Amino acid sequence: MTETLLRGRVLTFHREPTGADDTGAFSFTEDGAVLMRDGMIAASGEYAQVAQAAAGVRVIDHRPNILMAGFIDTHIHFPQVQIVASWGSQLLDWLNGYTFPAEAEYGDAQHARAMAGRFCSLLTDHGTTTAVAYCSVHKSSAEALFSEASDRNMRMIAGKTMMDRNAPDAVLDTAQSSYDDSKALIAAWHGKGRASYAITPRFAITSTPEQLRAAGALAAEHPDCHIQTHLSENHDEIAYTAELYPQARDYLDIYEGFGLLSDKTLLGHSIHLKQREIGAIAECGAHPVFCPTSNLFLGSGLFDDAGLRARGIASGIATDIGGGTSFSMLQTLNEGYKILQLQNQSLHALRAFYWITRGNAEVLGMADRIGTLEPGTEADVVVLNARATPAMALRMGRAETLAEELFALQIMGDDRAIAQTYVAGQPQKGGDQAPLS
Ligand code: GUN
Ligand code: ZN
Repeated sequence: MTETLLRGRVLTFHREPTGADDTGAFSFTEDGAVLMRDGMIAASGEYAQVAQAAAGVRVIDHRPNILMAGFIDTHIHFPQVQIVASWGSQLLDWLNGYTFPAEAEYGDAQHARAMAGRFCSLLTDHGTTTAVAYCSVHKSSAEALFSEASDRNMRMIAGKTMMDRNAPDAVLDTAQSSYDDSKALIAAWHGKGRASYAITPRFAITSTPEQLRAAGALAAEHPDCHIQTHLSENHDEIAYTAELYPQARDYLDIYEGFGLLSDKTLLGHSIHLKQREIGAIAECGAHPVFCPTSNLFLGSGLFDDAGLRARGIASGIATDIGGGTSFSMLQTLNEGYKILQLQNQSLHALRAFYWITRGNAEVLGMADRIGTLEPGTEADVVVLNARATPAMALRMGRAETLAEELFALQIMGDDRAIAQTYVAGQPQKGGDQAPLS
């Protein structure tokens, strides 16, 4: 039995807070503790109480830092780690100019394995303990990522991208091979340890109707797998999609028609939605995913968080590396705050931290396993230092409340504010820092 007791200021969410005064939505313990046992949370709460039940257990004192559930990134592209900050264009040119050439390299299994290590380290360096990832079209890229995550006992939801047209040959499969490869990956990885599979048709532009039919068949055969794709990110994308699927009522109707919509479906971006699409998303319980840094970087548009919430839709929030510009969910919240400000919407710090932990876990249907510090859940914990930089320390000199401290982290924080990240009870920061050769 392996046990570690973390001491610190413990914050965990029970439900979405309406604001800083909604104290029933979270527990915050100034002198708190989290007892981790064999990769799970055995107890959390007041230090004095938890320590009493853990006599003799090694204590790591993280005070005055905050202990919180590890962050969850609900949309990220594993083979795009090296194209973050590629200059100048909007979505379709960016895909053709930078993304597809970079993803083509993941046909080399050795390259995919090397990058999988870098990718997982970057996630945990930034406090992210669970990711929902697009791999490249190559089956070996998904094998590399699942295998790396499994070696680290890290929760990973991922899928081989399905794409059979409108891209270079090196990143194309066929309807049949995409079905066969996805099926084999599901058999090998779905439900194995902390891995689960996301059926991953990239978007309608790069899939023929035959391939979307194959994706729909996979979804019907494996209803407990997630489904991830992109929807209504960019005006040129939407127009091209309508040309390719002239019979569809709108963009979402394409995915609907092939049986790809359910409460397991994650719809990356979902910016320029029509009223009918919003109604259909609300009805089937699918989840738009807000990708703030990407939406700004690619000039895609402003996500209407309040509009979707008003319809009862639960959205995820994510980095979308490499359209996104930071692996940090804190920086994601920072840019998300600004996008909502432009629309007279607000992203309160308590809701923000709820969103990147329990909120995203609920979107994934996994709040019983990740996203909180409740006993019986998995011991993924992040340690947050709100004084990590000189500017943050100065700002903290005037912070009087938890909400102010969290807001400083939300706006000014990045990987420097992540003092430590525990994945299934094991510390992750500090290793694997070798420079790229
Ligand atoms: N739409 C289809 N593929 C992609 C991708 O890789 N990134 C983004 N941002 N949008 C997409
Ligand atoms: Zn994406």
